[in-house]
Amino acid sequence: MTETKDDKATQIDAGSSNKTMLSVKNLDASYGQIQVLRDINFEVPTGEVSVILGANGAGKTTTLRSICNMVTNNGAITFDGVDISGKDTADIVNLGMAHVPQGRGTFPELSVIDNLEVGGYVRKDNLDSDIDRWFQMFPRLKERKDQLAGSLSGGEQQMLAVARALMSRPKLVLLDEPSLGLAPLIIEDLFSTFKELNQESGMTMLIVEQNANLALEIASHGYVLEAGEIVVSESAEELRTNSAVQEAYLGA
Ligand SMILES: Nc1ncnc2c1ncn2[C@@H]1O[C@H](COP(=O)(O)OP(=O)(O)O)[C@@H](O)[C@H]1O
Ligand SMILES: [Mg+2]
Repeated sequence: MTETKDDKATQIDAGSSNKTMLSVKNLDASYGQIQVLRDINFEVPTGEVSVILGANGAGKTTTLRSICNMVTNNGAITFDGVDISGKDTADIVNLGMAHVPQGRGTFPELSVIDNLEVGGYVRKDNLDSDIDRWFQMFPRLKERKDQLAGSLSGGEQQMLAVARALMSRPKLVLLDEPSLGLAPLIIEDLFSTFKELNQESGMTMLIVEQNANLALEIASHGYVLEAGEIVVSESAEELRTNSAVQEAYLGA
């Protein structure tokens, strides 16, 4: 018996047997009169990491916000076999989707540990073993557990935002430019944590990024968003060698 009780307690629900964790069809989104997304179609396979690449203003954040129904949108969105089009954001979260918004998403006036507890609020069970797990993964958060989130460094806040979102043990996590504003070494750390989470827990991830190199290393599939439309859909391998993508997003 190598598996301890704690290991079991912190396992993440990797979703049902649906091969497609998220399916987005014919998605349009707008802010007032201005249409920002046009007929977006893509899928996120269960247990894999998918990435959406796009320049500033392409519509990446709006895509993630549409999936959570936080912006006016139209389209057919299926999450782990359930039609979530038009559902309330809170109901979507309760179905097992977590969103790490751009610019972090922590409660600055709460301590590190209180942020983690709030992140687990949708669960009724004991949160301590999960908190321990994230403290193991991010020792800097443990050292600062009673410090207010707003007083952490950018990298620490990003770690906290990720850990907080994962406290709900989501089937799918949406990550909005997790590398934004972080030092290169911290970005590498963060992406290796994402890889570990995906490989060890089978957690499905959708990452949007301008910084494509690391994202493509851990993704199986990717899409390029330009001016509100998906213009490329390829395997991560193909994207890494696509010369137009290299030029625009890989700093080649
Ligand atoms: N709250 C908003 N109101 C009006 N326009 C917005 C709003 N948020 C974003 N936009 C516009 O929508 C477009 C896409 O933005 P966004 O989804 O944030 O792009 P990205 O995340 O790829 O940088 C941009 O032209 C942006 O100016
Ligand atoms: Mg954005």
